[in-house]
Amino acid sequence: MTAPKKLFIKTYGCQMNVYDSERMAEALAGYEQTNAPEEADMILLNTCHIREKAAEKVYSELGRYKGLKADKPDLKIGVAGCVAQAEGAEIMRRQPMVDLVVGPQSYHRLPEMEARTQTGEKALDTDFPEEDKFERLKSRPKASRGPTAFLTVQEGCDKFCAFCVVPYTRGAEVSRPAARILDEARDLVERGVREITLLGQNVNAYHGAGPDGSDYTLARLIWDLDKVDGLERIRFTTSHPNDMTDDLIEAHGTCSKLMPYLHLPVQSGSDRILKRMNRSHTAESYLRLIERIRAARPDILMSGDFIVGFPEETEADFQATLDLVEAVQYGYAYSFKYSSRPGTPAAERAEVDAAEADDRLQRLQALITRQQRSIQESMVGRTVNVLFEKPGRLEGQMVGKSEYLHAVHVADPTLKTGEIAPIRIVSSGANSLAGTRA
Ligand code: 5AD
Ligand code: SF4
Repeated sequence: MTAPKKLFIKTYGCQMNVYDSERMAEALAGYEQTNAPEEADMILLNTCHIREKAAEKVYSELGRYKGLKADKPDLKIGVAGCVAQAEGAEIMRRQPMVDLVVGPQSYHRLPEMEARTQTGEKALDTDFPEEDKFERLKSRPKASRGPTAFLTVQEGCDKFCAFCVVPYTRGAEVSRPAARILDEARDLVERGVREITLLGQNVNAYHGAGPDGSDYTLARLIWDLDKVDGLERIRFTTSHPNDMTDDLIEAHGTCSKLMPYLHLPVQSGSDRILKRMNRSHTAESYLRLIERIRAARPDILMSGDFIVGFPEETEADFQATLDLVEAVQYGYAYSFKYSSRPGTPAAERAEVDAAEADDRLQRLQALITRQQRSIQESMVGRTVNVLFEKPGRLEGQMVGKSEYLHAVHVADPTLKTGEIAPIRIVSSGANSLAGTRA
C-alpha cells in the first residue's frame, strides 16, 4: 500500500468556509490532512472576498508557495471559496502555477477535478449547478469528532445589501432539505458532537422541505433537532433582522437546547444609511425586534455586525450608530471599516475620508469593548453551564463555552472534553472567564 497523499488547507473568512473546508477534506478521500504546507501534495486555499484586498492577499499567499512547487513539481495548488468564484480563470492567468480553481457551489466536483490535475490538466469550475452539493459531499465513515460542529443548512443570499459581495459569490438563497440536515446531525452526534451551530448566510431565512414535504422554517428545523438524543446545544448564525419570524423568537423562550445567544447584524444605526445600504429595516424596528426577543428570553446575549464609513456617512449618522449600540448593550459585536467591493452598488459612490473612517471605527470599537467587558464582568458570581472543548494552555486546565458563548477556563483535571458542567464564574479576563465547578 502506498502512503496517503497529504493535503494542506488554509481557510479564510467565515464559519461557512470552515465547514466547507471540512467537507472538501473529507471529499478528497485519497488524502490525509497536514498542518505543514511543505509536506503537502496538494495545497488548497479556501478564500474569502468580503472585505479588504482579499484577492491580493490570495495572490501574495500563492507567491509563497512558488518555491515549494519548484522543488516538488507534482504538488497541486488549488484556490476555492469566494475569491475563486469572483476571479475565476483570472487566477490561473495571474498565477500559472495554480492547477485548480473551484467556486463554493461546485465542491462536490472536487474529487473529479483533482483527478484531472493528476494528468497535468488545469481544472476550473465556478458554475452554480442544480445538484445538491452536500448530499454528494458525504462524510468519510464515522471518524470521531470534537464536541462542537458546524452544519450548513442554507447558502446564498437574496438581500443584496449595497456593500456586499455574498449574493454574487454564493448565489441565490438555497435551503437544504430538513431530512438531510437531521441525518447529518444524528451522524455528528454518533461521532461525539454535543453542540451544533447551524450555518447560513441568511440562516433565519431557511425555507427547506420538511421531512413530510411541508415547508419548514428554521424554528421547525430547530424543534426537530431538539428531539435528537445526545445533542445538547443548538446555535445558528448569521441572521437578518427581517427574517426573525415569530416562531423563531418564541423558540428562544421555549426550546431549552437553543442557546441564549443571537448574532443579529444591524450594520448602522442611521435610517438614512440603512436605506442607502438597502437594508429594509430601520434602527427603531431593530430595537423593537430586540425587545420582543428579550421578552421571550430575557438573558439572551446579543451580538451584531457594524460597518463604519459607508459612503455618505456623516458624523451625525455615526452618532446614531453609537446611540443604537448604547441602547442594545451587546455582549459581542464585530465592526468593520467599509471596504468597496467591485460589482456592488455602493462601489460606485464617493467614499468617506479614510482617516475619518478609521477614527469612527476606533470610537465604535472602544464602546463595544466596554460593553463586552461589563457584560462579561456581570457573569462573575453566577453559575453557567460550560461545554468543555479542549485542554487549556496551563497544566490540568480545560476550556469550554458557556451558554452565552463566553470562553471559560477551569483548572480541574477531572473535567473531560465533551462534558457539560455547572461552573461558578470567579473572574473575568480580557477575552475569557475563569471559574470552578459549582
Ligand atoms: N465592507 C465592510 N464590511 C463588510 N461586511 C460585508 N461586506 C462588507 C464590506 N464591503 C461585513 C458586514 C457583514 C459582515 C459579515 O461583514 O458587517 O455582516
Ligand atoms: Fe451580504 Fe446583506 Fe446578504 Fe448579509 S444580508 S450576506 S450583508 S447581502
